[in-house]
Amino acid sequence: MLNVAVLGFGTVGSGVAEVLTMNKEAISKKVGQEVAVKYILDTREFPGSPFEAKIIHDFAVIENDPEVQLVAECIGGATIAYEFVKRCLQAGKHVATSNKELVAVKGYELLNIAKEKNVNFLFEASVGGGIPVLRPLYFDLAGNEITEVAGIMNGTTNYILTKMLGEGAAFADVLKDAQAKGYAEANPAADVEGLDACRKTCILSALSYGFHVYPDAVPTEGITKISEEDVAIAASAGMKIKLLGRTIKTADGKVCAFVAPNFIPVSCPLAHVDDVFNAILVRGNAVNETMFYGPGAGKLPTASAVVGDLIDAAWHLDARRDLDWADAEPAKMMDVKELELPYIVRTGEDEAKVRAAFGDVQKLAADGYLLPKAMKKADIEKAGLQLTAVRPVFQ
Ligand code: HSE
Repeated sequence: MLNVAVLGFGTVGSGVAEVLTMNKEAISKKVGQEVAVKYILDTREFPGSPFEAKIIHDFAVIENDPEVQLVAECIGGATIAYEFVKRCLQAGKHVATSNKELVAVKGYELLNIAKEKNVNFLFEASVGGGIPVLRPLYFDLAGNEITEVAGIMNGTTNYILTKMLGEGAAFADVLKDAQAKGYAEANPAADVEGLDACRKTCILSALSYGFHVYPDAVPTEGITKISEEDVAIAASAGMKIKLLGRTIKTADGKVCAFVAPNFIPVSCPLAHVDDVFNAILVRGNAVNETMFYGPGAGKLPTASAVVGDLIDAAWHLDARRDLDWADAEPAKMMDVKELELPYIVRTGEDEAKVRAAFGDVQKLAADGYLLPKAMKKADIEKAGLQLTAVRPVFQ
């Protein structure tokens, strides 16, 4: 029998307990022995919950119980969750987590401990919620040189953008709705300011390029500055506007990662990813282009990925999944301002002046101009024009 401890009984943790219970028979059959929830750690009581009897408040009980082989960390954040995950790994327990902040900030260290202790530290749920993307990226696409990963990877902001732009709903109402549905972070600023997408971009970068990319190396802009003008520009250009996390291998072998609202031509499948759905598009030099699509947040979809990791750990109890990366390599990073990309700029300046600065631009609605060729943002800003917005186009 394999015993699971669930750390945190919030949206994801309660989903993990539910999935492990709902599908207990099938999961146990797949694993080859019974898999059962032994403890659920939380500071709160849950009177009336079917899991009430499993709730405990003392982490040491889990840490010191040799019968607990598998741990699902669903607390979130990189303070107490970091402490508990580290201690679980050091105690020889396998850990699955949905915690993107933890992996983005402490992934290198925790993977090293897992390696030393020959246990698994898995985090499929940390990017794309229920979408299987990290395992395929790291294992199934290992034969490629990854040239770019670009994704709509925050369900809350995609939900907000879809409802605001499609139905004219008010920002505060949609955010409340996303919180009620369990999509938003405890502090939703992490969603709307792009931090959550930034953390996920760090994880995708590390898996793609083999070294840790910390959040402070990823310039990040969220959705709060997207204006009506941006939306009008997008419509006139035959594009949509979406918050993308992108990590790109540049021609000279550097890595450029950033999070920003991007214009996306409607011919690109990413332009059609709406509501809470996420999609992560991967470009590799053998596969060409492949896209992973599905529910990016929510209780059961996220729990689906955590439970998948627990099962994978159960299948690799003695010979751990060979998954790790090196520590940060700042010299290999390129600032997005130095990377040539296609851009749309918005400026109140005379069209003649815009043409004199950038050449044969395409004039769009709301003082928007599509630049005729890819340029460095640093050079665009040096052109001497008053620019209201400079946004990349995903191609
Ligand atoms: N707040 C996150 C989102 C949850 O909206 O995508 C899933 O990571």
